[in-house]
Amino acid sequence: MWTDRLSHFELPPQWSTMREAARIEQETGRQIIHMEKGDYVSPEFMPPAESFAAIARSLRQGYVRYSPGPGLWELREALAEEMSLRGRPTIPEEIIVTPGAKFGIMATLLLFLDDGDEVIMPDPGYPPDEFWARYLRARIKHIAFRDPRRIDTEQLAKMITPRTKLLVLNSPQRPNGQLIENIEEIAEVMLRFPHVTIASDEIFSKMVYKPFVHRSLSYLPELRERTVVIDTFSKSYVMTGLRIGWVTAPLKLAEKYNILLQNSCTNVSTIIQEAALAALQAPASYHENWLALLTRKRDLAYKLLAECKRLQTDIPQGSFYLFSKLPEGVDDREAVRRLLHRGVAVVPGSAFGPAGAGHIRLTFTLEDDILAEGIRRLTAELASLQG
Ligand SMILES: Cc1ncc(COP(=O)(O)O)c(C=O)c1O
Repeated sequence: MWTDRLSHFELPPQWSTMREAARIEQETGRQIIHMEKGDYVSPEFMPPAESFAAIARSLRQGYVRYSPGPGLWELREALAEEMSLRGRPTIPEEIIVTPGAKFGIMATLLLFLDDGDEVIMPDPGYPPDEFWARYLRARIKHIAFRDPRRIDTEQLAKMITPRTKLLVLNSPQRPNGQLIENIEEIAEVMLRFPHVTIASDEIFSKMVYKPFVHRSLSYLPELRERTVVIDTFSKSYVMTGLRIGWVTAPLKLAEKYNILLQNSCTNVSTIIQEAALAALQAPASYHENWLALLTRKRDLAYKLLAECKRLQTDIPQGSFYLFSKLPEGVDDREAVRRLLHRGVAVVPGSAFGPAGAGHIRLTFTLEDDILAEGIRRLTAELASLQG
């Protein structure tokens, strides 16, 4: 029989609505509006044209053999430049190209946690963080928020013990799209505990709406060597299915990621690495247009949701999600089940951890008319829900 470590193995809870929606569509032929995906839904969102050209060129050149290693040198150079421009001075050797950020998260937890070690992570958070921590038999401690944009640093300082190995953060946060704003306060606490490494999941760092700006503990010189940054092309370049991301880590640690990568998936597809390099070299207008489109959709979705007095929604500072509080006493899983039967799919907040209960999460990356219809169905159903 398989190992006891699999006792918590289940399909990703945040995708339960997606699975259920697919089942209903298949069995009944009904069309559901998909606001549950952590993905782009509308075909208006596409990777840069330069990436498609690079894929075609790589195929013609026959890049179909192994290329073991931490990534193509040119890609690592371009990513080092990208990280340096953001505020974390980086050399190419500190970049490890991974098959997506999720691999980067798994690798980080595998590299740091032994049985009984402690990892601090937000609640609500990103379920795979917890999944791998549990696999490794680490002790998970949930950090509370003073408000949606500020970690309770007093509690953080009290939580850290000699067994604490990692603090996992993501900003802009998932699932609520808010930035973590009290970076300096968190840094102050972390400087008091030099044995703790920070895993900073920054997959939405480019998807931040004006006037807000992304900030990271890795930009602070005194914490740079203690912070691992996890990022991806999935969201910033509309490449969710191409599976490519990267980890930025201090040199000695980067070598461990490299060894882990070469002993597991060998290398990220060379063709996809070429596509990623081309994306980084795309003209600035690509991101300007992408962010303008996202901003417009965020504003439309927020305006429509804000009209629904039964929901409480903060406008997201980043990401492509809205996270709304249901009326007091309404169970989020029950609400999601009813919404599915109305023909609109969203995710119950409790899929992201106990503190997410009583909320729903939805993406606004749909075509405008479908987005508006999805929110119309949602508000109509909520009007009939008893709190
Ligand atoms: C916070 C967070 N980290 C990591 C990922 C995974 O990204 P990737 O597609 O690069 O594996 C996601 C995907 O939704 C995410 O929300």
